[in-house]
Amino acid sequence: MTEYVSVVRGVGGYLPERVLTNDDLAKMVDTTDEWITARTGIKKRHIAADGETTSDLGTVAATRAMNAAGVGPGDIDLIVVATATPDYTFPATATVIQHKLGITQGAAFDLQAVCSGFVFAVATADNFLVRGQFERALVIGAETFSRILDWSDRSTCVLFGDGAGAIVLERQEKAKAGDRGVKGIHLRSDGRFRELLYVDGGPSTTQTVGHLRMVGNQVFKHAVGKISESVRAAAQQAGIDVKDIDWFVPHQANQRILSAVAERLGLDDHKVVSTVADHGNTSAASVPLALAAATDDGRIKQGDLVLIEAIGGGLTWGSALIRI
Ligand code: UT7
Repeated sequence: MTEYVSVVRGVGGYLPERVLTNDDLAKMVDTTDEWITARTGIKKRHIAADGETTSDLGTVAATRAMNAAGVGPGDIDLIVVATATPDYTFPATATVIQHKLGITQGAAFDLQAVCSGFVFAVATADNFLVRGQFERALVIGAETFSRILDWSDRSTCVLFGDGAGAIVLERQEKAKAGDRGVKGIHLRSDGRFRELLYVDGGPSTTQTVGHLRMVGNQVFKHAVGKISESVRAAAQQAGIDVKDIDWFVPHQANQRILSAVAERLGLDDHKVVSTVADHGNTSAASVPLALAAATDDGRIKQGDLVLIEAIGGGLTWGSALIRI
């Protein structure tokens, strides 16, 4: 029987035009550029324009990823969109993006794992592709977190931003793919930690969209340990030594978390891709946006071994090793 691997063919990102700086926020809530910079590393974030939706952002990122891959709408037969801020309660944002891209074949659905969503979506698409069920997937992380923030809560509204990132993941015969492809994946969830990071609304509870609530310092404590354990598990599964990783592309929640995880794993600073200063935390979009940034500027090249990871509401967390 033919053995398949999933290979990244193209990467794309999109950030909305409007920029909100720390100084802008200091005019809205009791905060300062010094506090935000020292505690998070964030300097600015992008905010979607009125009427600009998650599917709009995801469609641009997906188009850029398809262009980078040299494929068109007729070549995609699976779309997985990781988002916690869908356009509608239903249908899935993935089907909205599918329609905007002019894709009429295959399947499209959303996946909800909050900030870990892109890692979970890569794992999901990889399983479908490796099984031979689909040929070429768009894996998208797209968010408009600005729509679920409580703009009077300084402990959360300074942290998040909007954006989207996407990859084209393609099924290739293992024998022909060389060493490329998704190597190891580790996913975890533990619903006991729901109260640490959640939205206080939803269709079945309040019939409202709700606002994001977070016990930030508690999430911080879980983040470093859980991510480091997950990375070790993914590396073990792939038979890879963590020191052989070329690029560490983490979820961009907080520079202090990124640096602490890199240090714990023994990864040099120059291997860490950090976009947190310019993007803030874009939830499921943060990892593919960082991948796009480091691919576009030529840092990440074909053949490089890339580590992605994230932790988010649920709690959910996970990591994946991919040879690009
Ligand atoms: O993407 C999902 C995963 N999310 C994360 O990974 C986020 C993890 N958490 C964090 O990144 C950090 O915990 C935060 C950046 C959210 C907060 O940093 P911290 O060092 O953990 O601060 P803290 O929450 O312990 O708050 C310290 C102080 C508090 O004041 P008191 O009680 O010590 O007087 C807060 O009220 O900082 C205060 N504070 C602020 N001060 C100025 C909280 N937010 C602000 C603010 N500006 N925006």
